Amino acid sequence: MKLLVTGGAGFIGSAVVRLAIARGHSAVNLDALTYAACLENVASVADSPLYAFEHADIRDRAALDRILAAHKPDAVMHLAAESHVDRSIDGPGDFIETNVNGTFNILEAARAYWMQEGQPSGFRFHHISTDEVFGSLGPEGKFTETTPYSPRSPYSASKAASDHLVRAWHETYGLPVVLTNCSNNYGPYHFPEKLIPVVILNALAEKPLPIYGKGDNVRDWLFVEDHADALLLVLEKGEIGRSYNIGGENERTNLELVQTICAILDALRPEGAPHERLITFVADRPGHDKRYAIDPTRIRTELGWRPSVTVEEGLRRTVEWYLSNEGWWRPLQSRKGVGERLGVKA
Ligand SMILES: NC(=O)c1ccc[n+]([C@@H]2O[C@H](COP(=O)([O-])OP(=O)(O)OC[C@H]3O[C@@H](n4cnc5c(N)ncnc54)[C@H](O)[C@@H]3O)[C@@H](O)[C@H]2O)c1
Repeated sequence: MKLLVTGGAGFIGSAVVRLAIARGHSAVNLDALTYAACLENVASVADSPLYAFEHADIRDRAALDRILAAHKPDAVMHLAAESHVDRSIDGPGDFIETNVNGTFNILEAARAYWMQEGQPSGFRFHHISTDEVFGSLGPEGKFTETTPYSPRSPYSASKAASDHLVRAWHETYGLPVVLTNCSNNYGPYHFPEKLIPVVILNALAEKPLPIYGKGDNVRDWLFVEDHADALLLVLEKGEIGRSYNIGGENERTNLELVQTICAILDALRPEGAPHERLITFVADRPGHDKRYAIDPTRIRTELGWRPSVTVEEGLRRTVEWYLSNEGWWRPLQSRKGVGERLGVKA
């Protein structure tokens, strides 16, 4: 298959590009190279004849038309987005522009291309979204594909809007879409403004490990390589018009998660132990969702997928990767806003 992957220089998109090429697919990586992008993420496949890069913005309809006509992909996997909740609190405009208007553009470009090609039945538009569209859970219950939408941050509201557009393009125009909503990802190449890399890198630098509020917010952690595997499966086997929730079956409070990372670092870097002494509780995020948890029954029973690693195993691999890849993360720490406390203006 030839895939057009938007956001392929980002964290999850690059994992999709690497895995797709390893499995013999072609991948065209379309990315605007925002602050969150890093072409190093795809350096291992950049010389492959199966790989191509297009520096383009999903807000630029003419560029999308040109790229679709030039590469003639069998599927679009749409991951390009503004993705950081804290940045969405400080500056929601970019989130509306890219996540809503940009998704509208790529849907329209994909629809025009699909029509021009004679509506091939095998074509797919795969929209990659988040469990945050479902809002916040109490101590019980899990998100299913039929949980009503209840986004509570500018980021999750913009992603919810994009999900609605994708469903509407299927119902109204017959565009063959599949959707996925996943839980929090982690793993190699995670941009160093997100919780897990911040904790690893601050611990190595003997800096405070910031935990929002009391650290009792619960997330369901999904290893990024497991996620990429699930995405390719949904693309190939998912039912048109259907959405699939993808979770790691690894619920942890933020405090438990940080304590696990500290224990892994204690074993790998005993000179800094105990790293837990660096844990520092800081002001909570405004509107911080309490708990997310995915009910993965549909993807498990219909497509036979389940995650391959526990959070302990995935975190160990992640910490080891950061210890071995300082040349990747060190330059990213000087990008705008990285290392600063964002999202407290509200
Ligand atoms: N990271 C998570 O835990 C998580 C969880 C659920 C869903 N998601 C979704 O998965 C997708 C990928 O997330 P990620 O963590 O890899 O994000 P990321 O921020 O690491 O990467 C996003 C990529 O999109 C590109 N991009 C941004 N705006 C663009 C534009 N206007 N045109 C073209 N490219 C643009 C960026 O340059 C970057 O390479 C997003 O749609 C996100 O909403 C992420």
